[in-house]
Amino acid sequence: MSHADEDHDGDRRDFLFYATGGAGAVAAGAAVWPLVNQMNPSADVLALSSIRVDVSTVEPGTQLTVKWLGKPVFVRRRTEEEITAARDTDITDLPDQNSENANLPDGSDASDENRAMDEAGEWLVMIGVCTHLGCVPLGDAGDFGGWFCPCHGSHYDTAGRIRKGPAPRNLPVPVAEFVDESTIQLG
Ligand code: FES
Repeated sequence: MSHADEDHDGDRRDFLFYATGGAGAVAAGAAVWPLVNQMNPSADVLALSSIRVDVSTVEPGTQLTVKWLGKPVFVRRRTEEEITAARDTDITDLPDQNSENANLPDGSDASDENRAMDEAGEWLVMIGVCTHLGCVPLGDAGDFGGWFCPCHGSHYDTAGRIRKGPAPRNLPVPVAEFVDESTIQLG
């Protein structure tokens, strides 16, 4: 086998390796989402990774939990008090000062405006998985009126930002947008 053939085989093996990795990634779901993105998934894969949520029945002060890519996603419609509490918080008081918002560029700060979906701050969408060890936090709970993770005592505020306890990061905001006034698309 010539040197050129070996190189060619090597390329092919690499390609097969990545292609196999890609198929596994689709089955495994969110954990390998960046790899799926990188491979330009086909339309059916995209359809699986994107859902629409009707939020027309969500009243202020309540939240809807939907399952997306195997994880709970909290869709909260916040009250004026919750918005004010979040907006009055100084960023320097936050253990994680990064927005953790997939819709914004890396390095965006954790201001409430960078966490909420809309300018008024009424809608907050987050992956409902504690950033400590993965429990599902409880809503309307904790010392900051947001979410509380009972597993080891992490307190999140009304913008889903970690304030106290062992969790290292804010609850992540997934790729999400309003496609009409009462429908949010995730992914
Ligand atoms: S998993 Fe939430 S505090 Fe440990």
